[in-house]
Amino acid sequence: MDFSFLAKYYMFFIYGLKNTILLAIFSVCLGVILGIFLALMKISKNRILNIISTSYIEFIRGTPLLVQLYIIYYGLPNIGIDLPDFLAGIIALSINSAAYVAEIIRAGIQAVDKGQMEAAKSLGMTHNMTMKYIIIPQAFKNILPALGNEFIVVIKESSIVSIIGIHELMYNADTVRGNTFQPFEPLIVVALIYFIITFTLSKLLGLAERRMRVGDQS
Ligand code: ARG
Repeated sequence: MDFSFLAKYYMFFIYGLKNTILLAIFSVCLGVILGIFLALMKISKNRILNIISTSYIEFIRGTPLLVQLYIIYYGLPNIGIDLPDFLAGIIALSINSAAYVAEIIRAGIQAVDKGQMEAAKSLGMTHNMTMKYIIIPQAFKNILPALGNEFIVVIKESSIVSIIGIHELMYNADTVRGNTFQPFEPLIVVALIYFIITFTLSKLLGLAERRMRVGDQS
């Protein structure tokens, strides 16, 4: 094992990491915005909205991210939508993530005990008031940790977009692999970098989750 290439190539990893994190942040933010709409559509009483959101969620979760990325990057230019690679990557990741986020939010809301709604209504609160003051604040505790996990998943999944030439962590590690003729060590380095980020994030999430549960009775 020879890691001396790092002295010359460490900037590749740092620059790649920066792009990986940017990709993940943008994708999760957009994914959450879209996911909130999808979740609301899915729990609404309107059948058309239900069907649209259920179809979206099932279709996106039932097809590989790689195929979705290819459709957006290679397919869309055919109908006149030619996206720069970084944007195509963000769009593919957020469209994909939104389907998972929608389910996280829906499940988080529906996991709040039915009795909470009934109790609030019996006190004379309207449906909207109950949602706003009783249900959503409790749902938050279910949703936030899962969203943190989604962020971790997206950091890892973002390595897929290296395939369309986005210079993120995986792509740059592969460049180093090619330049140094060392097939092993650069990949070990990149694996360690991914692991350090995801492990740290998941520890932080665990901490935040425990904080949020401090007020709960067990
Ligand atoms: N590897 C999965 C696929 O090919 C992507 C899973 C994304 N998961 C997520 N929670 N965003 O479809």
